[in-house]
Amino acid sequence: MSADTPQQGHRVADSVTQMSQLVLPHEANVHGSVLGGTVMHWIDLAAAVTANRHCRRPVVTAAIDEMSFEAPIQVGQLALLCGRITLVDRSSMEIRVDVESEDLLSGERRHTSTAFVTFVALDTETGRPTPVPPLILETEEERAENARAQERRRLRLERRQAAKQRASTEARRRAPA
Ligand SMILES: CC(C)(COP(=O)(O)OP(=O)(O)OC[C@H]1O[C@@H](n2cnc3c(N)ncnc32)[C@H](O)[C@@H]1OP(=O)(O)O)[C@@H](O)C(=O)NCCC(=O)NCCS
Repeated sequence: MSADTPQQGHRVADSVTQMSQLVLPHEANVHGSVLGGTVMHWIDLAAAVTANRHCRRPVVTAAIDEMSFEAPIQVGQLALLCGRITLVDRSSMEIRVDVESEDLLSGERRHTSTAFVTFVALDTETGRPTPVPPLILETEEERAENARAQERRRLRLERRQAAKQRASTEARRRAPA
């Protein structure tokens, strides 16, 4: 099958990924809650598995949108991550990852973060971006999230274009006359 052969679509539900991590003391900051960088690492992993399940090809992280930490996750609590694909373009996929804390003694759950991660599928031989299967949207919620994802993608690509322009202006400025 060539890289550009159209592929059969997959449903959002086909690649949903649930991950849970018990927060251990070596992952904590001085306040006894998990380090932000560790949560970002888990988000990247949950999103990568979701993207892999959708396209069944090697994937790389291309971008992680702005993210915030709304509540701490304490040592001894569970971090629950849920990755769900929201948008597919030619070779890129946007994955939404929601993070919750769970107190194992009380059972109380709290939303702590949401991140949007863009992955790009690579061809196994050339290592270049390669087409991914289309996304089948089944529910009103999936269609609404997809519409919001289209807008996020538009803004992301505008930022990428602006960054490229800044870099080339900078390179011209530094080049010897
Ligand atoms: C991501 C990467 C493969 C893109 O390669 P490229 O040569 O710039 O490819 P293109 O410009 O053709 O873009 C390919 C796709 O990636 C998307 N993309 C690339 N950079 C992006 C960014 N910063 N934000 C959103 N999408 C991006 C493009 O929109 C395009 O999507 P589409 O095919 O669905 O239309 C390349 O930049 C790379 O290898 N980056 C390093 C990845 C990495 O090491 N990640 C961390 C470890 S996994």
